[in-house]
Amino acid sequence: MDHFLYRNGILHAEDVAIPEIAAQVGTPFYVYSAATLTRHYRLFTEALSPMPHLVCFAIKSLSNIAVLKLLGDLGAGMDVVSGGEYLRAKAAGVPGDRIVFSGVGKTRDEMRLALEGGIRQFNLESEPEMRALSEVATALGVVAPVTVRVNPDVDAKTHAKIATGKSENKFGIPIARAREVYAEIARLPGLRVVGIDVHIGSQLTELAPFEAAFAKVRELTLALRGDGHDIRRLDLGGGLGIPYTRSNEAPPLPTDYGAMIKRTLGDLGCEIEIEPGRLISGNSGVLVAGVIYVKNGEGRDFLILDAAMNDLVRPSMYDAHHDIVPVAEAAPGSPTQAFDVVGPVCETGDTFAKARDLPLVAAGDLVAFRSAGAYGAVMASEYNSRPLVPEVLVRGDQFAVIRARPSFDEMLKRDSIPEWL
Ligand code: LLP
Repeated sequence: MDHFLYRNGILHAEDVAIPEIAAQVGTPFYVYSAATLTRHYRLFTEALSPMPHLVCFAIKSLSNIAVLKLLGDLGAGMDVVSGGEYLRAKAAGVPGDRIVFSGVGKTRDEMRLALEGGIRQFNLESEPEMRALSEVATALGVVAPVTVRVNPDVDAKTHAKIATGKSENKFGIPIARAREVYAEIARLPGLRVVGIDVHIGSQLTELAPFEAAFAKVRELTLALRGDGHDIRRLDLGGGLGIPYTRSNEAPPLPTDYGAMIKRTLGDLGCEIEIEPGRLISGNSGVLVAGVIYVKNGEGRDFLILDAAMNDLVRPSMYDAHHDIVPVAEAAPGSPTQAFDVVGPVCETGDTFAKARDLPLVAAGDLVAFRSAGAYGAVMASEYNSRPLVPEVLVRGDQFAVIRARPSFDEMLKRDSIPEWL
């Protein structure tokens, strides 16, 4: 459930009419609902209670500092994968002991940044990385809390570009080698084992792959404890999928996911960490765009929007589906038309949807892409020198721009012409 509903025929974000925001901010823009973000975060904390747990929001899905502050103030931890994300979490006021550092290529600078600023744990992904972290920590005179991300060789049954838990993927250490690797960690002076980490992919719409992976983590926990390691935390990653269409999708709910975790791992006495991104942020945001032209082509009609692949890349990159709805609700039974929905960018890949049945819309109308809160604004670029898309946060009847659209002047000023040219 989200808080983007029609009221008197106009799409609202909570109590704010979308056209009101458009009039002030211009299109395109992302708008997020604080109530939806809060609700989705709480679904996870409720699903995991009474087990000791920490829900670490995967910042990569939506990294605006205002959103991080909202979630951080509710008690959320953060999952970061770069120095930039770490600094965003800190800027949002999240204490270091609630930040976990994931990612396959952490640099020494990033390790230093997190060790100096405070960190809950590093999720290590390779042996060279683990030796580097031990050296960095030792040089700083500290000991880094670590888990090892194990690759359980499980098929997540999701899009190939976002599956991470198969042995051919670049992520983690093969689970079969884990005991050897933990033994080496125990010998390294700058590291202290605190648990195990696993993440098998994103937009998973079944629980079975998670359960298969968690069963392997369970076995490993017992084996590593037998070897004398202090396994007190299990970081189970993110990946729970969301419905992208209103009609036929019914991915498992956080309550089902939580119950499955209790069933497979609940008796181990471990603190459970999870790293959900999409389920918290995805349906908490929409991308609002204006129709520039309706172009009647040969055998097809194009809806040309002022949003493009640089603002929302998921359809071009993953063939992802986003529901597109008019901001002014169509009357029941009114006619529809099949449109190819496109942006102004100069490549055919700049297509949001093909032959999509939509109510009749005209130039100047507003449309909204649903389920765009996750991996939307964060993946935006300035391709075709289109200014980076702004973001707005709504709470109740209030709204605020939480990232302004840069002016052309600001955009051009970032380049410089060398003196010798
Ligand atoms: N933890 C780790 C280590 C991850 O790599 C990811 C996502 C997450 C947590 C969060 O997964 P989530 O709960 O959001 O599924 N850009 C793609 C998705 C890439 C996901 C990458 N890793 C998309 O637009 O579908």
